[in-house]
Amino acid sequence: MPLVPVKQLLDEAAKKNYGVGAFNVNNMEQIQAIMQACKETLSPVIIQASRGALKYSNLIYLKKLMEAAVIENPEIPVAMHLDHGNSLETCKQAIELGFTSVMIDASLTADGKTVASYEYNVETTKSVVDYAHKFGVSVEAELGALGGIEDGHGAGLAADDTTHLTDPDQAADFVKKTGCDSLAVAIGTSHGAYKTMRYDAAGNALPPELALERIELIEKNLAAAGFPNYPLVMHGSSSVPQELIAMVNKYGGKMKAAMGIPMSDIQYGIARGVRKINVDTDSRLAMTAAIRKVFVETPEKFDPRDYLAPARTAQYELILGKVKDFGQAGHAKDFAPMSLEDMKAVYAGK
Ligand code: G3H
Ligand code: 13P
Ligand code: ZN
Repeated sequence: MPLVPVKQLLDEAAKKNYGVGAFNVNNMEQIQAIMQACKETLSPVIIQASRGALKYSNLIYLKKLMEAAVIENPEIPVAMHLDHGNSLETCKQAIELGFTSVMIDASLTADGKTVASYEYNVETTKSVVDYAHKFGVSVEAELGALGGIEDGHGAGLAADDTTHLTDPDQAADFVKKTGCDSLAVAIGTSHGAYKTMRYDAAGNALPPELALERIELIEKNLAAAGFPNYPLVMHGSSSVPQELIAMVNKYGGKMKAAMGIPMSDIQYGIARGVRKINVDTDSRLAMTAAIRKVFVETPEKFDPRDYLAPARTAQYELILGKVKDFGQAGHAKDFAPMSLEDMKAVYAGK
């Protein structure tokens, strides 16, 4: 099976009202872990690489690892997606590499830090759509800006800053003007383990407060404007399992209190139009906890396989749970995979 465009995966998910996990990767073990979980559960899946991941892996390594994943798992529809592309140039580079989908995050300017104007977002997104669709490549855009900052990406917005949440009244205009295939919405999630922290009176950490009602409004406005079942994307969707934080700290880590997005909130979104769910941090936590355990319990070991294999297993177990909870499990064989050539014809209206 060739790599499939993200648009097909999200359209199929909309038909049956489930979500598709989009898992960030940087290396072989992560890709293997995701593919094993998806193979066992027959889950279509999106594997995504950030600009940082592409730089870390020197571009070609991730591409070849993805090709290996496809060869080894012919029955699983897999899409290869660029996460948070910052410019047309970056998206062009990913398309040249063989990615079947790109995100142009022009909610921020190309520095990845400054909140951009609506006009800049429309213009930049449209330039990527016009280019990518000629190759059959899907385009995700972002409207509104996520809070927080992670590894240099993000505007560092304050926890209680709601001014950059997605405006439901802008969504239809944005999709109409840009032609993007899916829309990442800002509803109060943020990247990383340290999301917008809240505490109860006793000082216990609470999960971030999300503006979940906006999902329903955005979806309703899009449908009214002629975009029914339009796929929305939820970034910053790690649940930050407390047992993983505890395990990291038990084995010498020094993580502060952290809370993620409860699965019930994600499922609320899926029931109302969220089709792509981005997860990176939880995979990092799972692998780090497993590696720390090996280092502490068997300090005499020095073969990387002794800690990378348990790290891979830990991520596999994490993904296994997510694909079941998001609902993509069991749907790999529901549809015939489309190639980028097929998608080119769709975009050309043939
Ligand atoms: O967008 C945020 C993702 O978690 C990617 O993070 O830029 O550190 O690879 P990264
Ligand atoms: P997390 O940091 O919550 O895993 O979010 C990842 C993400 O949104 C990647 O684009
Ligand atoms: Zn993101």
